[in-house]
Amino acid sequence: MTLLQELECRLAAALTAVLGAPAQAVVTPTADLRFGDYQSNAAMVLAKQRKVNPRALAQEIIDHLDLTDMALAEIAGPGFLNFRILPSAYAARAAALIRDERLGVPASGAGRTVVVDFSAPNVAKPMHVGHIRSTIIGDSLARVARFLGFKVIADNHIGDWGTQFGMILVGWKTLLNPAALETDPIAELVRVYRDINAASQGDAALLESCKAELVKLQAGDAENLAIWRQCIELSKRGLQKIYARLDVTFDHWLGESYYNDRLAGLVDEFLARGIARLSNGAVCIFSAGGKPPDDDPFMVHKEEGWTDNPALIRKADGGFLYATTDLATIQFRIDEWHADHVWYVVGVPQQLHFRQLFEAAARWGKTGDFRHIGFGSILGDDRKLMKTRSGDNVQLADVLAEAVERAAAVIAEKNPGLPAAEAASIAEIVGIGAVKFAELSQNRLTDYVFSWDRMLALHGDTAPYLQNSYVRIRSIFRKLDAPFDAAACQLLLTQPEETHLARLLVRFGEVVPTIVEDFRPNLLANYLLELARAFHSFYEACPVLKSAEPLRASRLALCELTARTLQQGLHLLGIKVPDKM
Ligand code: ARG
Repeated sequence: MTLLQELECRLAAALTAVLGAPAQAVVTPTADLRFGDYQSNAAMVLAKQRKVNPRALAQEIIDHLDLTDMALAEIAGPGFLNFRILPSAYAARAAALIRDERLGVPASGAGRTVVVDFSAPNVAKPMHVGHIRSTIIGDSLARVARFLGFKVIADNHIGDWGTQFGMILVGWKTLLNPAALETDPIAELVRVYRDINAASQGDAALLESCKAELVKLQAGDAENLAIWRQCIELSKRGLQKIYARLDVTFDHWLGESYYNDRLAGLVDEFLARGIARLSNGAVCIFSAGGKPPDDDPFMVHKEEGWTDNPALIRKADGGFLYATTDLATIQFRIDEWHADHVWYVVGVPQQLHFRQLFEAAARWGKTGDFRHIGFGSILGDDRKLMKTRSGDNVQLADVLAEAVERAAAVIAEKNPGLPAAEAASIAEIVGIGAVKFAELSQNRLTDYVFSWDRMLALHGDTAPYLQNSYVRIRSIFRKLDAPFDAAACQLLLTQPEETHLARLLVRFGEVVPTIVEDFRPNLLANYLLELARAFHSFYEACPVLKSAEPLRASRLALCELTARTLQQGLHLLGIKVPDKM
């Protein structure tokens, strides 16, 4: 049980005693330590219901509250209950964490299955910085969910069956450079696609042949299918390299094409059950009514007022759409994988698609906890969408390469004596970590400005700062001449800096579960920064190796617990730690 949960239990017992009926209690961490560590507004809520004086009721609750060995309570303002945790309680809890592999994080997801749908780039198109957000946020959420005990299925729902294949097929047959395909398949496929796309502007005949190739592919033409398969393989190979560099893994790669043979039957079922109907030859899902229009994803407000905003699941020419595939995908994930939750980590512009999708699925009887986890854009220095100097989308692979290059320069300046191979592997860890942390420390919904200098600073709110904190702690242990056994020592919190560090260490188990409440890895990122700062204040105020026993062992144990928590926390963000920097 976390400290917060234990406080809630004890408070609930007191409320139950005061009310003479079973009661629950909510406790939250205070925003400001001057008001103690935790607080509850239970007395105020209850006093309002019972029309009594809140401060008097708060006193009555305190009189029934058993906080032995745990905390002191006081009444503040209009009737807040503030709790100050005793240093001895922090010491006892932190000591227990030393023996706990999970560092106090509860297995709150046990018994539930979650599908995390993230990254999902489109084949033969490069992954750009927009995909970076999905990949990094999605991977972190999958890691956190796994650590919380969920059964996690990471699924890369790649766009491998789009209309882009008409152009790619024509390009493959007329423009392909086999040598270029060999060295950089994604780049060559993209080039071919781009060239045909450009050439087809205003060339009706070319556009027609693209369409014809697409129709042949969809009808199962052997030659086109073979080319298509090769495109997918080549693209996957290119993507794998990027994922390897990012240390991102998937359990499945079930792309859009996987669902092809389920689509026709799905549309028939929607028609037969009246969930969809024909409209101008197309099959559409319309509003089912019963909701205010501003809350109905199948209605839209235009100049003339509220009008229908249907979701198309079959075009008049018989083609299927993104929504059709996503409905089939939901069915598969529920029936085959028994998913309780599906988390879609996809940019905000697709919000309407997901609102319609979730409602259509519910009408179809596919129930589960489906969430669209949206995010904003990445902006360049000019605060406009990030582009290269020539105006192209920035490619993820280039971002990663530049991050590592810049990290190498930072490392070379900080520690010029490192052997080249070691410096290179540290630069890789620091560079990739910096990019990830810059992403994950932001509120995912806000646009953020991409800045190399800011994300690589050794003394900012950055991954290198956290990695460096970890390395500093490790270097303390390298100075010892005998192995240190943290589990064998007693924790003594004698200085406020020690207590504060223990307080934060104990809070790790409370922070991690909150990440998946609203899908905010930035809560963990900010916690880790706070922890590192608390460590540095502690290290300045409290001599470690030079203090006498038993304080020396106690402080070493705090150091070790801090290092483990930093390492585990960064791991949940998908960020590695080096041994040296
Ligand atoms: N391929 C899509 C894109 O790049 C994202 C797919 C997201 N996942 C899903 N099930 N719709 O925009």
